[in-house]
Amino acid sequence: MTADNRLSVTIAPGLKLSNPVIAASGTFGYGDDWEGLLDIRKLGAIICKGTTLKPRDGNPQPRIIEVSGGMLNSVGLQNIGVEALIREKAPLWAKWKAPVIVNIAGDSVEDYAKVAARLDGVKGISGIEVNISCPNVKRGGMHFGTDPHSAAAVTKAVKKATLLPVIVKLSPNVTDIVQIALAVEKAGADAISLINTLSGMAIDVNMRRPKLGNIVGGLSGPAIKPVALWMVYKAAGAVNVPVIGCGGIMNAVDALEFIMAGATAVQVGTANLVDPQSAIRIIDGLRRYLSAEGIKHISDIRGAARK
Ligand SMILES: Cc1cc2nc3c(=O)[nH]c(=O)nc-3n(C[C@H](O)[C@H](O)[C@H](O)COP(=O)(O)O)c2cc1C
Repeated sequence: MTADNRLSVTIAPGLKLSNPVIAASGTFGYGDDWEGLLDIRKLGAIICKGTTLKPRDGNPQPRIIEVSGGMLNSVGLQNIGVEALIREKAPLWAKWKAPVIVNIAGDSVEDYAKVAARLDGVKGISGIEVNISCPNVKRGGMHFGTDPHSAAAVTKAVKKATLLPVIVKLSPNVTDIVQIALAVEKAGADAISLINTLSGMAIDVNMRRPKLGNIVGGLSGPAIKPVALWMVYKAAGAVNVPVIGCGGIMNAVDALEFIMAGATAVQVGTANLVDPQSAIRIIDGLRRYLSAEGIKHISDIRGAARK
């Protein structure tokens, strides 16, 4: 067995990754800008920036600020739109070893379904991650992720529109994550990913106004890791589909915590912006951990902390 096989995971039917480390949406662009910064062939998968039917400019500046233990962003789904993505990015992705998953968003259930239908069968696209959890857009976005009925409706519509594997990305800004996880699983999600950012703000006391142009933004980075881990633990205990953990993962030990909580794979977000090599360091660290502990396969420790 090669070292790579020890890390291989299946995150959805037909979506097998060489390792469980995925670049998180919005922190890795469309991947093409990162080619000189790390060996992207080594990544388990790449999830591109949230994509909508039409291109979007996003929110007013400033949109990214540092806060204790992390960052706040209010980028607000700035993206090139699904047509440009298919024309300009997918042909490039078709040549890559690491599968690319397209993160999608919309203002209505129909919008989500239309984007999913457009992506169906496009070479270079291996799956869809449905963002029902964006806190930085006025309409749609997080609304779909905070109500089990809306979350299920979006999931059902996307599943109907495509044969691609469908991962639904949950919002942490809810009272009961298990209720939403069960609703999207029942609606046909092939996997769930969590968490997206937590809603937050910061105030400039000299200017006496919010630091972000959009007032509210999404908190990410180490500050959210314990919250994310707890939500992954709870969701993984409730659903039967694979769970992809995300939130404040900066190193291999963080990734292991999520896997031991029950995650099949992990996403690395803010860490990419701190050190572009973060995901590679995490993959190498997981491999070292398996060797040091004499563990045959990463799946042998999945959910280890649940027993
Ligand atoms: C600048 C920025 C942009 C993001 N854009 C998206 C997005 O378009 N779609 C999405 O589902 N999540 C988006 N996210 C959320 C991340 O994918 C991830 O869920 C979140 O940041 C928590 O992980 P982390 O703490 O490792 O960053 C974005 C995060 C950041 C920091």
